[in-house]
Amino acid sequence: MAFKPANNIQDLQYFGEFGGVNPSISDSSTYTFLSAKTMFDTFEGNADGCYLYSRHSTPSNLYLGQALAAMEGTQTANVTASGMGAITSVLMQLCGAGDHIVSSRTIYGGTYAFLKNFTPRFNIETSFVDITKLDMVEAAITPKTKVLYCESVSNPLLEVADIAGLAKLAKKHNLKLVVDNTFSPLSISPAQLGADVVIHSLTKFINGSSDSVGGVICGTQEFIDDLRNVNDGACMLLGPTMDSLRAASILKNIRTLHIRMQQHSLNGMFLAENLEKDGLKTVYPGLASHPSHDLFKTMMNKKYGFGGMFTLDVGSLDKANALMELMQKRNLGYLAVSLGFYKTLFSAPGSSTSSEIPENEQKAMGLSDGLIRFSIGLDADIERTYAMMKECMKELKILE
Ligand SMILES: Cc1ncc(COP(=O)(O)O)c(C=O)c1O
Repeated sequence: MAFKPANNIQDLQYFGEFGGVNPSISDSSTYTFLSAKTMFDTFEGNADGCYLYSRHSTPSNLYLGQALAAMEGTQTANVTASGMGAITSVLMQLCGAGDHIVSSRTIYGGTYAFLKNFTPRFNIETSFVDITKLDMVEAAITPKTKVLYCESVSNPLLEVADIAGLAKLAKKHNLKLVVDNTFSPLSISPAQLGADVVIHSLTKFINGSSDSVGGVICGTQEFIDDLRNVNDGACMLLGPTMDSLRAASILKNIRTLHIRMQQHSLNGMFLAENLEKDGLKTVYPGLASHPSHDLFKTMMNKKYGFGGMFTLDVGSLDKANALMELMQKRNLGYLAVSLGFYKTLFSAPGSSTSSEIPENEQKAMGLSDGLIRFSIGLDADIERTYAMMKECMKELKILE
């Protein structure tokens, strides 16, 4: 039977403390025990339904985690204060000194910087590979490799990972496949394709209001318990804890994610198709010209489309900057990093979200100076948006 992530969210039922239709927000950092014995058992991890201290877990965080686990079809999930809080905790939990990671070379700049500059301090090394070439991925695996890491749709180049193929490799070599699904919530369900751990930055599409920072780790009960373990769990000991008030507000926004993703995808497809027809170098997984268009089709939950992210290469950084400034002036969106907002957001990744990646490596992976990354908004009249964008491009001679 087809996996229906939005049904799983819709089907969750809440009765708040006073019968509210939203769960009550747990506004406490610590929790009482009626007996000292239960407190001891809770520390030992043996008292289901008891709360200890809010860095460990809170009712509000568990509700949000439950919704995200339902969306990804994993046993459970743990929410974190940011996407990076999720990524770094997972990698530090799975790897120790002497271990090795094989990672896609096109990933979010912060993740790249963590693997390139930070984890080597703990003697954890990473090989960065072209994730679309399974033979290269396999060739990079060594006896020390513990983790295969990728983004389902990569930031910013929109490369698409063959998750089922990578899962097979992970199984064969006894590795954990960790997938960051931030760019394609609902469209792609990595755990259904064999990923062991699925991560999101909730800051983006899932929250969708650009008012919160958050992250989540979706996985097995065993792995999430490990992360929360009071003795050696990265989430417990590194402290990337989400605040309960934030968890409650993000939970409310998730309920409209399916409607928002459909509109982001419709708008993304319309603009990408038309801008490509106009002769612009356009990358969008929904275009037949995208090298992984067919692969995406085999993985996707069709209803949610190809997502709200596309890139245009306008030739040079100067042109990209001029276009972004003009589009902002005309109120087409904001010159801002991040994604998933109701208005379009655009930035030049080479000098912003991917600036942690050295210039020569940016070139090698095809990240050119003139590249603009668009997170298309929920525009109700995308034809009007397209006409206004075209006007800006003509004024700057990017289009004839
Ligand atoms: C694909 C991806 N993963 C992770 C992150 C990090 O998330 P956060 O900013 O919530 O820490 C980002 C942020 O830009 C991202 O784009």
